[in-house]
Amino acid sequence: MISEQYKKFLSYVIYQVYPRSFNDTNGDGIGDINGVIEKLDYLKELGVNAIWLCPCYKSPNDDNGYDIADYRDIMDEFGTLDDVKRLISEMHKRDMKLIMDLVPNHTSSEHEWFKQSRMSKDNPYSDYYYWFDEPQNDWQSCFCGSAWEYDEQRGQYYLHSYAPSQPDLNWENPKVVKEIQDVVDFWVDLGVDGFRCDVIDQISKDWERNLNCFGPQLHDHIHALFGRDKVRHIFTVGECWAGDIDEIVRHSAYERGELSTLFQFDHLACGCTTKFRKKPESLKSVRDIIAKWQTLNQERDLIHALFTDNHDNGRFISRMGNDGELRYESATCLAAMFYLLRGVPFIYQGQEFGLTNSHHHSIDEFDDIESVNIYKYFCESMTPEEAIDKINFGSRDNPRRPMSWTAGKNGGFSDAEPWMPLHSRYKEINLETDRNSEKSVFNFYREILKIRRENDAILYGDFEVISKQEDGNFVFTRTYEGKRFIVICNFEDESEISVETSGKIILSNYGRDAVSGTYRPYEVAIIEE
Ligand code: GLC
Ligand code: CA
Repeated sequence: MISEQYKKFLSYVIYQVYPRSFNDTNGDGIGDINGVIEKLDYLKELGVNAIWLCPCYKSPNDDNGYDIADYRDIMDEFGTLDDVKRLISEMHKRDMKLIMDLVPNHTSSEHEWFKQSRMSKDNPYSDYYYWFDEPQNDWQSCFCGSAWEYDEQRGQYYLHSYAPSQPDLNWENPKVVKEIQDVVDFWVDLGVDGFRCDVIDQISKDWERNLNCFGPQLHDHIHALFGRDKVRHIFTVGECWAGDIDEIVRHSAYERGELSTLFQFDHLACGCTTKFRKKPESLKSVRDIIAKWQTLNQERDLIHALFTDNHDNGRFISRMGNDGELRYESATCLAAMFYLLRGVPFIYQGQEFGLTNSHHHSIDEFDDIESVNIYKYFCESMTPEEAIDKINFGSRDNPRRPMSWTAGKNGGFSDAEPWMPLHSRYKEINLETDRNSEKSVFNFYREILKIRRENDAILYGDFEVISKQEDGNFVFTRTYEGKRFIVICNFEDESEISVETSGKIILSNYGRDAVSGTYRPYEVAIIEE
């Protein structure tokens, strides 16, 4: 039995907006909140009904907004709080939900709390961060180097899991818990419908096991944020890079008053540094991982966060698919592999028209703190050419380049020169060109999302995998109240597939009409019985 609350969440299709690079409306080369409002009808047409907005709060932008200086105000470049209020009301008018990014693990060093905290050992904010006379362990920052930084002013070390300008909040201090609860309430009162919770697994440290995540108080903290009556109805998705299955299951069991779902990264098989390594992973292993999670989620009545791309990884199509000759086939095949499963689809901007990785020759064309730091580190052991090759592959700037809406000036993103160089393939891969093409990724996405919306079997149905582990394809069924769909995705060169069914093909990326037979590279068929 699926509860009504679960049904509500399972109907969400969430589009991730990276506001800085989405759409500039006032000609300063930087995307803004009004730019999101301007595209709401486009998103509605695509078939999404919710947006996850990456951080848009006041920030010095060392980590593009993940270093927050004020949780209750908007970055000047993006607009004002009134713009966000207008965004909420325009979205609600269209029956769309707004999911904000909540960054509870750290603030910017320019946040008032940290400015006060570093002043002395006995001010009201002194325990808002982790201060010690000596580094407590050998933890490394995710952006290279030690996670401990000495602060002259206070004469002590503080912990920063990311950049030194992103000090970790001390969640062992109940005042901090209360502060973040208030932040949550502030946005819920304004009308937001949920939160994506940045590195949520890190808000409790496990000092004993020497782990910078999954500490003993994690459940209590998450519960303190989201288990309260006032916010029980909202949708929450936690970002969770680490963790074993049982931990993850516990954190995303909604009835425990914790998270609605979690981003879990097994299928990307890439962490902070490994994402730059070209590995011989294949879609076979991706298939096995998602099939495992589907089965597990089904058994335990959990929601699977279905995603391939986000703002922290190279484009999935370039990593795992084919971003050349078979780009259309590959993009549509990946969409069918993920978005017809049970769970909540997340689509990252540009993915809906098959955007790939971007290619650049010099590190000067990159902005991201992680890429720039890791490039320096790579250069210690390899040539600049080898290093830039890795950066091109794994950089977080791949998905962060200004959106290519058209093949025209600045890709239609802005009238002015954009804040960072455009995508290297924007003239070839952009929304306008895609929509005018016979092979339109956008149109295929629309079809998939329509099939999802209109069929309870896709929304709530049981999942069963039919293909075998050795097969180079993914064949699965979704069944609900006597109705069954079969989804066939071939991700090898050619696959001979035979399926017993009396059903008909309702969507294909090759114009196929016979169910069985030879499936060509990245061929997809969706069959309704
Ligand atoms: C998360 C964000 C990433 C950010 C980091 C620190 O992983 O997705 O973009 O750099 O947390 O906030
Ligand atoms: Ca702007």
